[in-house]
Amino acid sequence: MKILVTGGLGFIGSHTVVELQNEGFEVVVIDNLFNSSIDVLDGIERITKKRPVFENIDLRDKKSVQDFFAKHKDINGVIHFAASKAVGESVENPLLYYENNINALVYLLQELQAIEKANFIFSSSCTVYGQAEKMPITENAPVQEAMSPYGNTKQIGEEIISDVAKVSNINAILLRYFNPIGAHPSAEIGELPLGVPQNLVPFITQTAVGLRKELSVFGDDYPTSDGTAVRDYIHVVDLANAHVVALQRLIKNKNIQKVETFNIGTGKGSSVLEVITAFEKVSNKKLPYKIVGRRAGDVIEAYANTDKANKILGWQAQSSLEDALSSAWKWEQKIRN
Ligand code: WQD
Repeated sequence: MKILVTGGLGFIGSHTVVELQNEGFEVVVIDNLFNSSIDVLDGIERITKKRPVFENIDLRDKKSVQDFFAKHKDINGVIHFAASKAVGESVENPLLYYENNINALVYLLQELQAIEKANFIFSSSCTVYGQAEKMPITENAPVQEAMSPYGNTKQIGEEIISDVAKVSNINAILLRYFNPIGAHPSAEIGELPLGVPQNLVPFITQTAVGLRKELSVFGDDYPTSDGTAVRDYIHVVDLANAHVVALQRLIKNKNIQKVETFNIGTGKGSSVLEVITAFEKVSNKKLPYKIVGRRAGDVIEAYANTDKANKILGWQAQSSLEDALSSAWKWEQKIRN
């Protein structure tokens, strides 16, 4: 079975390539290397001893996408990670996000329509829920008005896929990620944020390793147990495995709906201060931080109800917050030495 992984050298993509190869899938990776490094290919090979086929393609170039599918006629499934994903950047540069996250998706789907039985997995996000009314969040929670162009591209992407699946042979699964963190236990691959990390955990590990002076905690006046915002932090390897089981479901295709949606998280919420405490425990280091004002666009809390993924996919996160933070710390120390 030959699977195309777009954005396969990125953070979640690379970890998914490893789990696909471990399951015996043949993997072809497309990446434009804008937000990833070709060295990740070596890391994947060091883990699985199998080097995926790699093509440096920018999915915004329609002709390149067409040429790719003309060359690879035996693709059995596509897992689509390639997209821009920085919330703040999307506010400053919306057209970059609409071109990269929407055009690329359209060009991919146009090619998939021509494939006999197309299995498609889309990287979506809990961002589509905005500030959900009820915790934990189920898949039936309403999709609310996007808080950023990035979040809007995820909502639009889901709608495009649903519309196309109705009138084509495409079967799709939308995976709404909560907060992916951590790194492969081998420390051969992990998160490589460009510039100053926007996300909490890479900022924590870069502070602990001495790259950053201190962590700014964005707000401690939220209506939560300790005043800091709550998220569902899921180990990236658990998230990667959710893609493998979702793909296997599509391939078996036992009377499934054309489009299915699953929340992929641990089902547990952790506040920023709880993450800091957990990190200090696993790293045995005191983390310098200061409380500052809230960050625009942040929700108070978001954590997943994972019953649907547990029951239908037979998938459950295996790693704890501490496991994930420990793997992130091991990775940070490795890349800085
Ligand atoms: C987590 C918490 C911050 C940094 C975003 C996207 C989501 C997905 C993951 C792509 C929040 C606080 C953060 C810092 C802090 N992206 N924080 N100091 O915003 O929940 O989700 O990234 O797929 O779609 O929306 O993740 O890690 O940025 O923030 O206090 O330096 O940590 O306020 O409460 P977020 P995050």
